[in-house]
Amino acid sequence: MSAPRLLVRDLAQLATAAGTEAPLRRDALGRVEVLEDAFVLSENGRITATGPMRELEPLHGEVQELDGSGRCAIPGLVDCHTHACFAGDRVGEFALRAGGASYEELHAAGGGILSTVRATRAAGEAELQAAVERHRWWMLRAGTTTFESKSGYGLDRETELASLRAIVAEESVPTWLGAHAVPPEFEDADAYLDFALAEVLPEAAHLAEAADVFVEEGAFEIAQARRYLEACRAAGLELRLHADQFTERGAVPLAVELGARSVDHLEATGQEGIRVLAGSEVVAVVLPASALFLARPMPPARALVDAGAAVALATDFNPGSSFCESLPVVCSLACTQLRLSPEEALAACTVNAAHVLGRADRLGRATPGYDADLVLLDAPDWRHLAYHLGGDLVSTVIRRGEVAWTR
Ligand code: NIG
Ligand code: FE
Repeated sequence: MSAPRLLVRDLAQLATAAGTEAPLRRDALGRVEVLEDAFVLSENGRITATGPMRELEPLHGEVQELDGSGRCAIPGLVDCHTHACFAGDRVGEFALRAGGASYEELHAAGGGILSTVRATRAAGEAELQAAVERHRWWMLRAGTTTFESKSGYGLDRETELASLRAIVAEESVPTWLGAHAVPPEFEDADAYLDFALAEVLPEAAHLAEAADVFVEEGAFEIAQARRYLEACRAAGLELRLHADQFTERGAVPLAVELGARSVDHLEATGQEGIRVLAGSEVVAVVLPASALFLARPMPPARALVDAGAAVALATDFNPGSSFCESLPVVCSLACTQLRLSPEEALAACTVNAAHVLGRADRLGRATPGYDADLVLLDAPDWRHLAYHLGGDLVSTVIRRGEVAWTR
């Protein structure tokens, strides 16, 4: 059944990244078009026209109307890095960290990621799908209309594949994070990769769009990451890396050499890494909520943008290092901690995030031809998105031309 026509009218502002290219770099990242007193018309889930109200032509036939007065519209937000498929929580660990324990110590002691692995293995597929669904609603209410989600808390065949199926069933974009940590039943990372590449990859490659690896001391070293990523690429998957979170160990040049879609985190990336990324097609995905949550240094996002890198913003939503599903909060952090402008922040979690997911031709802009995904903000100026830190400003979310949530 096709969605009806939807007219969002009398918007105080409609704000969207200008142009059609992706990814956006340098000055183009900060170029947002703002229409005052605007409308958006969509049909069958696609935007067919936008403009100032005075240019709205009389509409014939059935049209659902939504009054946007006093509100601003932006494109539906795209979260290109989440770990939304997990069971349990890590609130006890959070309290220990508040008392001074470090994330790396907890990880080395068998807590951290591995404690979520235990809880996720104990849950069945139905419970995992219910978790992704719950998290999807949290994100939707914060304005996220498309989200990627990684597996990586199963690390055995059954739970990894069940995670990917749960992610697909909830219409999230699936990434196989088969190399997240070494589970305790394996002697070392190489033995685990022997298993994962032989037993899990063949089926994971049919379910997932991309593969991801955590390159870090205590997780996977560069040679292991290369082996994993080359095998995944040969199986047809796009490549992504968790890299330079705590230490720089050569993951950025590896990502460029292998033609990865993105390297994510980058809190520890230095000048050379910034230069290499800026000269490449690899998107730098920065995750300021994760840096804040772990009280780590912020990633060098300003320097990356100024050097010409394609920068995207994401939540890194997960139970351990970023229990935060809100891209508006991430936009706030981008402006206050990373020194990006509100315009750059918006483009980074719409157009550039859609590019990371291979969907920039359809998602990330409120422009004719793109999917009718819109967020209505209860604010007189769209920049309240970043300005109102933790504010309850998302009032209505439209997905594929239909009201998906309204308060
Ligand atoms: O992106 N760094 C590795 N993985 C996740 C954290 C996962 C967890 O702590 O459960 C991240 O921060
Ligand atoms: Fe992550």
